Amino acid sequence: MSRGDRRRVLGRHALLAAPLAASAIFALVIFVGPTTSQSATPPSVELGALLFDASCSSCHGANGEGIDGRGPSLKNEGRAAADFVLRTGRMPLADPSAQAKRGPVRFTEEEILALVEHVGLIGDGVDIPNVDITNADLGNGGSIFRLNCAACHVASAAGAPIGGNRRAPSLALSTPTEVGEAILTGPGSMPVFGVLTEDEINDVAGYVENLAEQNTTGALHFGGAGPVAEGLAAWILALIPMVALTRWIGRARSGRDPSEEDTDAIEAAK
Ligand code: HEC
Ligand code: HEC
Repeated sequence: MSRGDRRRVLGRHALLAAPLAASAIFALVIFVGPTTSQSATPPSVELGALLFDASCSSCHGANGEGIDGRGPSLKNEGRAAADFVLRTGRMPLADPSAQAKRGPVRFTEEEILALVEHVGLIGDGVDIPNVDITNADLGNGGSIFRLNCAACHVASAAGAPIGGNRRAPSLALSTPTEVGEAILTGPGSMPVFGVLTEDEINDVAGYVENLAEQNTTGALHFGGAGPVAEGLAAWILALIPMVALTRWIGRARSGRDPSEEDTDAIEAAK
């Protein structure tokens, strides 16, 4: 084997090595992921208290009693609300006057479990719901959604402004558990929907998941450009025949628009 051949083979090996290494890391993450998140050891009470003190007490008070103008009392928020705000990256908030928004998650799995435990012990709020969408009735979920949720989140769940500088966000990234948590805790200016049964929550969560899937595959069919770019593309496609039509209507036609020579002749004849 010549040197060049060897280099080529090595090069091919290197090409193979990159995806292999990537999938090995991926497999490791999948393998390690559940063992850390479902660790048998209960969340550390000490860690939860330390984290709360460092990241939450400046707005919610040392004991979660709330601080006027900074953050509400957490006495009735419970594990569901804590899990929701931490897993959607809403807390810790940067600015107490701004609406909490979905963002990057700021804590590790272990820290989230510890903080959820800590907030759960502050008072008596709702526990994290066990949402299961495997047998969700999408028809029923759809009617519940249109009746109770679409007014703010709109029928496609894309979200919309709801006044007072607030916005009902898109539900495209919401997990079924987050949908259940939002329904039970009513984050921000969203109402609590305490009347919905466990089955109804499963149905709505299944419906929201289905909407999100349809929206993403819809975007993929168009090359994954997303709704704004797709809207723009539709406009441009519609615009081309419109422009052609106006040019056709507006073009000079013999017998209708006098030519320059004719105009001169008319002027001379006067
Ligand atoms: C800069 C101030 C600030 C910090 C820091 C902060 N919060 Fe909040 N938190 C707020 C405000 C303000 C609200 C009310 C949000 C709203 O109504 O839109 C809130 C709401 C909440 C809620 C109720 C969710 C809801 O809207 O019903 C929970 C639970 C919560 N925070 C937990 C935490 C935890 C846990 C931490 C620490 C990791 C934390 N917060 C850090 C200001 C803060
Ligand atoms: C009155 C308007 C209103 C209605 C009705 C409403 N929501 Fe909301 N929803 C909101 C607002 C506002 C937020 C953002 C909360 C915040 O500031 O953190 C929200 C947040 C959410 C989130 C979190 C999304 C994210 O960004 O992580 C979910 C999930 C959700 N709503 C589901 C529902 C479902 C399901 C229903 C019907 C059962 C519903 N909402 C009805 C206003 C509404």
